[in-house]
Amino acid sequence: MSQTWWRGAAIYQVYLRSFADGNGDGIGDLAGLRARLPYLRDLGIDAVWLNPWYPSPMADGGYDVADYRGIEPVFGTLAEAERFIEEAHALGLKVIIDVVPNHSSTESAWFKEALADPARRDRFWFSDEPLNDWQSIFGGPAWTQVPDGQWYLHLFAPEQPDFNWANPEVHREFEDVLRFWFERGVDGFRIDSAALLVKSDTAYEDLDGVHDVYRRWREIADEYGGRVLIGEVWLPDQERFARYLRPDELHTAFNFDFLSCPWDPAELRRVIDLTLATHTPIGAPPTWVLSNHDVTRPVTRYGRADTAFEHGGRLHGTPSDLELGYRRARAAALLAMALPGSVYVYQGEELGLPEVEDLPDELRQDPMHARSGGANPGRDGCRVPLPWSGEEPPFGFGGGTPWLPQPESWRKLTAEAQRTDLGSMLNLYRSALRLRRGLLGDGTLTWLPMGERVLAFTRDSGLTCVTNLGPTPVPLPPGRVLLASGPLDDGAVPSDTTVWLT
Ligand code: GLC
Repeated sequence: MSQTWWRGAAIYQVYLRSFADGNGDGIGDLAGLRARLPYLRDLGIDAVWLNPWYPSPMADGGYDVADYRGIEPVFGTLAEAERFIEEAHALGLKVIIDVVPNHSSTESAWFKEALADPARRDRFWFSDEPLNDWQSIFGGPAWTQVPDGQWYLHLFAPEQPDFNWANPEVHREFEDVLRFWFERGVDGFRIDSAALLVKSDTAYEDLDGVHDVYRRWREIADEYGGRVLIGEVWLPDQERFARYLRPDELHTAFNFDFLSCPWDPAELRRVIDLTLATHTPIGAPPTWVLSNHDVTRPVTRYGRADTAFEHGGRLHGTPSDLELGYRRARAAALLAMALPGSVYVYQGEELGLPEVEDLPDELRQDPMHARSGGANPGRDGCRVPLPWSGEEPPFGFGGGTPWLPQPESWRKLTAEAQRTDLGSMLNLYRSALRLRRGLLGDGTLTWLPMGERVLAFTRDSGLTCVTNLGPTPVPLPPGRVLLASGPLDDGAVPSDTTVWLT
């Protein structure tokens, strides 16, 4: 694969705890993932991105990292991680891992040193008094007091103390961490909370100094050749967002505007146009994201009266017509995969899993739930272990009781059940990802006028993609149908359906 493989790649997100359990303790691990690598190859993706696999007390699903150069024992060992990277490469798959530079874990060596010795606190944000009244993103105050009376900053849970990026030692540490994993063959990093690193007493989002960090990281990535830096950058302002993608900074960043966008033709068209207008001038490829481990699953989202995604759980439990949501999720998948740039698939999306909204509160593990006093259900509902096979839980996930319970109704959604069903979501994803490889990915699009409620465009390869978001069928444009997200209606594209033609 070329040095610019990432420009048009299809990247599959593995939430390791919930992917496949190899040792029967109810928690997904590297052994389970390695055993399922052929599944990922057959799906037709180019790369896998793994959420944090580092040693962690799991106060935030591993985003509280205790050691950036190790592997969480529940997931496996460093030797296994190295074998996984080799095996993935042998199957032609690239490997992207998460790096979490905004904050650490209270169990990290650095934080323990800081607690023990007030003279060693300048790697974090310690102070005699809280410097401001910031609230934590997970709820509650962003400052916590330690036994000797000082306070430290944590934008997320109290178990996640923020690093002080004004300290050069923090820069050196992360530069070394990048090299550590590049040396082990990792093809790139997904950078957690990428816009938050640099802080003043009064602001923490998108401060200009953060770009110096990524310029340096880009030099390191370039030294290794073909490695990629992907930013988790949630910013409302596209112009500010684009700064992260300048040619000497990050390669790509997640398109959360697309993910959050309601199932509405005008809104989608606006977001797609804005995305292209933002990326084209700087030469960065857009990304298209429908879901991840932090958001409500598309099948559930698109079946609601309000189809937008919003943090905070306001729409949690509102009625969802899952059949409608499923149909739209299929149409959305073909739309996302046809757009110019790279595309992400979050595990379970290819199985059409809905959000699990009725988890018992006492089983919820996401700190968002507890820290909001239960007001926010948290993100566990999109993190339920995958159903692989069989008629009842744990559905081939592994021997033990899965760390979150799987609904009985998932017997219809196992990978095994879908493999032999030509009309399944899994087979739609497989067909689409294979076709996409030759015909789509990096490039540009040309819109076709097919009415206000239809998104239709052609790609450089000659592929035409038509999504009908209106209530009535629209005539198919000329061409041979390659793939459709649902049955066609006598030469017409029904409502909530996407068709690929050539
Ligand atoms: C990112 C992650 C999320 C995590 C947070 C704090 O948004 O995607 O899962 O909780 O950062 O690390």
